[in-house]
Amino acid sequence: MNQDDLKKRVAYEAINYIKDGMVVGLGTGSTMYYAIQSLGERIKEGLNIKGIPTSEKTAEWARSNNIPLTDFSEVNHLDLVIDGADEVDENFQLIKGGGGALLREKIVANATDQFIVIIDESKYVQILGEFKLPVEVVPFGWEVTAREIEALGCNATLRMDNNGIFLTDNDHYILDCDFKVINNPEKLNQDLISIVGVVETGLFINMTRKVLISYSNSGKVIEM
Ligand code: 5RP
Repeated sequence: MNQDDLKKRVAYEAINYIKDGMVVGLGTGSTMYYAIQSLGERIKEGLNIKGIPTSEKTAEWARSNNIPLTDFSEVNHLDLVIDGADEVDENFQLIKGGGGALLREKIVANATDQFIVIIDESKYVQILGEFKLPVEVVPFGWEVTAREIEALGCNATLRMDNNGIFLTDNDHYILDCDFKVINNPEKLNQDLISIVGVVETGLFINMTRKVLISYSNSGKVIEM
C-alpha cells in the first residue's frame, strides 16, 4: 500500500464519525481531499450536514462535491472537526501547516470538543521537529521576526511557491522553522506566540485526544 492509499483509507474511516445534522470542520491537505470526496458521496446518498472549510482550497473541493458550507457568522460550535497533520507525537501534540492553512485550521479546531486527526503511519513520531515547523507571520518586518524566531534555536526559511513568496489565505507569510528536535512543544509554542509579528504557530497543543492512523502492514486504521 503506498502513502496515498493509506491516506485514502484513514480519510474514508473518519467520515464514519459524521452523523446527520452535524456541523463539521473540514481540514486542509491531500488526506482531507479523500475525506471530502467520500463525504460528497455520503451527501449524494442523503446525509444532511454543513461544513466549515479551513482554506479556500478546501472550500473549492467542498463546493465541487456539493457539500453545503456555513461560517462563524451562523455557527459558534462545531460538532466535529476532521483534519490531517504533518507530525503527531505520543502525547497527541501536533505539527500542522504543511499546506499553509494552520491559522484557519487552529481557529476551526478550537471551536469543537471533537477534533479528529487523520494520518498515515509515517507521521507518527517519537519527538516532534523533523518536519519543519510552519509559523505564520505578518509580512511587514518578517526579516526581524525571523531573526527573533531563530534565536529560539532554529533555522527559519521563508516559504516560496511558483509565484514567488507563498501567501496564506490570510495574506500572511509562512516561515518554515527547522528545530530538528522539539523537546517541549508547549513551551516553544508559548515562546513563539509571544514574538511580535508571529500570527500563529503550527504547534497544536492539547487540542485532540483522537488520532486515526493507517498502517500498511496490517492494512488497518488504528485509533491512538
Ligand atoms: C495543512 C495541514 C495539513 O493537514 C497537513 O499538512 C497534512 O497534509 P497532507 O494530508 O497533505 O499530508 O496542516 O495546513
